[in-house]
Amino acid sequence: MFYPFEMERYLESLLGERDPLLSEMEEQALKETIPVVTPMVGNFLNLLVQTSNAQAVLEIGTAIGYSTIWLARAAQETGGHVTTIDMNKDRLARAREYIERAQLSDQVTALEGDARKILTTLDSSFDFVFIDAAKGEYLEYLSLIYPLIAPGGLLVVDNVLFRGWVVPGSTFAPKYDRMVGGLRQFLEDLARNSSFSTTVLPFGDGVSISRRIGL
Ligand SMILES: C[S@@+](CC[C@H](N)C(=O)[O-])C[C@H]1O[C@@H](n2cnc3c(N)ncnc32)[C@H](O)[C@@H]1O
Repeated sequence: MFYPFEMERYLESLLGERDPLLSEMEEQALKETIPVVTPMVGNFLNLLVQTSNAQAVLEIGTAIGYSTIWLARAAQETGGHVTTIDMNKDRLARAREYIERAQLSDQVTALEGDARKILTTLDSSFDFVFIDAAKGEYLEYLSLIYPLIAPGGLLVVDNVLFRGWVVPGSTFAPKYDRMVGGLRQFLEDLARNSSFSTTVLPFGDGVSISRRIGL
């Protein structure tokens, strides 16, 4: 959180009530401490997919499918499809149930396994890629995903500022050194990568948006 809690609450109130299914998922995630995107980030993903008219959407890190549903509802509007990957069998099973209840099964393919393996087997290209899995693996995902993003496609990554600790000079417990260092390296590599045009938004837990340039 990089701005006052009151502002986050206020901005969230502008989104209005989520429908009962998303509200149930938010409550469940909170209860079980499953780290899902904030409603504002979910809404933002939905807007980005719709405004970019993305057809082929890829998500790395499904958990119980909360962000997947925001993405898939947008894909329903664009006539697109979401492929989502998670290595946690139980969470993915629950995501499939929620997706079914949201009547979005036709819009979503959920793949179980380590994204670092699955990404090497995908031969389609994607217009929109959302990364929200293991923070320490972001650099690995970046190199695996690069060839899969269509020219002009968008790469959106959550938690890039991780509680603000990625900002140099922040103080945090030593056990987070590796993760924060990895995220800092990831952001710097992404920002300097001339194949992407990137901006970072300090909302939610920090969200980067990059457009793949060129052929
Ligand atoms: C932050 S949660 C995803 C939350 C979800 N995007 C949402 O907002 O509703 C991260 C998920 O990534 C999964 N994950 C972590 N490392 C992974 C990997 N290498 N391959 C596939 N899934 C992974 C975890 O199992 C976890 O469910």
